This record gives sequence, structure tokens and C-alpha cells, in this order.
Amino acid sequence: MNSLKKFKVIKTFNSIADRYILANHLLSFGQDVCWRRTLCEQIYSSVKEKGVVLDVATGTGENFKYCLNDFKVKIGIDPARKMMEIGKKRFPDVVFMEGIAEELPFRDNSIDLITVSFGVRNFADRKEAFREFNRVLKKDGILAVLEFFPMENGSFINKAASAYIYNILPYLGGIITGNFNAYKYLAKSIKNFIMPEIMKLELKERNFDVINNHRIFPNVYVILGRKV
Ligand SMILES: C[S@@+](CC[C@H](N)C(=O)[O-])C[C@H]1O[C@@H](n2cnc3c(N)ncnc32)[C@H](O)[C@@H]1O
Repeated sequence: MNSLKKFKVIKTFNSIADRYILANHLLSFGQDVCWRRTLCEQIYSSVKEKGVVLDVATGTGENFKYCLNDFKVKIGIDPARKMMEIGKKRFPDVVFMEGIAEELPFRDNSIDLITVSFGVRNFADRKEAFREFNRVLKKDGILAVLEFFPMENGSFINKAASAYIYNILPYLGGIITGNFNAYKYLAKSIKNFIMPEIMKLELKERNFDVINNHRIFPNVYVILGRKV
């Protein structure tokens, strides 16, 4: 585990917690709501049993606003305490726990659905996290990932979106939250991340069947894996 990366990432998210939701809405021009709704649609057409849902890298628990309500047990886990303090106030029926994706405090085969939105990019050890997801999911359980990937060059729209994400967003994010470094980190973490094809291979290596790969914006995807 790269503990320096872990420490820096937690500090970054704690520092922007108060303005995180507002910044997301403004910086994405409200698109984040549509992306989360698409995640929900994909989940509901794939999940069989609405027993236990675990939202990993839950932050302020934003995913619980859009879906997951009809699960019997709802758990959010994240290492950034200040992000979850906001989540606890908003969603009193969700159990929020401090922890990391790479070491989940749950029994084998105990979870029906794992959701991770905009979290995988931040993991210190992604492959270990995928191994943990596979361990705690029940057989046929679903892993649903909503994530930003590096922008591919090509069309005018892609070039414009690249310029926005890599050059403009860090400054706007800095103005909204007062933390310019946090949004420089965000842009860098997208630029340096793996492509969706690689994530699909990594999931297959960890015994997931990739059952859906849905592109909702030039560089935003929902990827669904089913535990084999
Ligand atoms: C961009 S926020 C996403 C929050 C939320 N999922 C959402 O969609 O709004 C990324 C979150 O990942 C969390 N995080 C960072 N490293 C993590 C790890 N190793 N395991 C679990 N969560 C982690 C951060 O603390 C932060 O709350």
C-alpha cells in the first residue's frame, strides 16, 4: 500500500468536503446528476437481490440521493472523515464507516452490490481493491463503477473537453473550494489514469464478467462487473 498517496488523497478530500457537492454540480454544468442517474439505471437492470449495498469511496454519500434506497442495508465506506460527516447528516439511514477499498471490513460473500463513483482513480492499490470487491460480493453480485478516464484526442468535442478538464477546471475548482491543489490533483488523476479497456482486463483477472460498458460522456463510463 502506497501510504503517502493514501495520506495525501484523504487530506485533499477532507479539505474540500464543505464545498464538494456544489463544486461537482457547477464544474460539470449539472451533468453529474445525469451520470449518476445512468449509473442507477444500469444497476437496476442488473441487480437481482436488493439486500446489502456497499458504496465504496462514498465521500458525502451522493449516490444514496439518486438510488439505492430500496436496499435493506445501506453502507458507505471512505477514509475521509469530513466527507462522511456531511453524508451522515444527509442520509441518517446509511451506515457510514471509515475505511479503504483495499481492506474491506466485511465477510466473504456478504454483499449484493458494490458501487464506486469517481473513486477508483484515487485508490492506492486498484488491483487489491478489485480483489477485495470480489471477495466480499456474493456469487453473481454486481460491481458498478462510474468513473472519469483519460480523454482521447480526436474530435473537436474531445479537444474542447480536454482543454476544459485539464486546464480550466483546476482553476474554477480552486475558486469554488479555495483549494487549487485539490483540483490540480483531480485533473492529473484523470490524465494519468488507465483506459477503460485496461480496467475491464483487470476486472476479468479478478474474476469478474464485464457485463456492461456504457459511455455517457467522452471520458465518463459506467462499467459493470458480475462476480463469477
Ligand atoms: C471524487 S470523491 C467521490 C465521492 C463519491 N463517491 C461521489 O461520487 O461523490 C473520491 C473519494 O474517494 C475516497 N478515497 C480515496 N482513497 C480511497 C481508498 N483507498 N478507498 C476508499 N475510498 C477512497 C476519497 O476520500 C473521496 O471521498
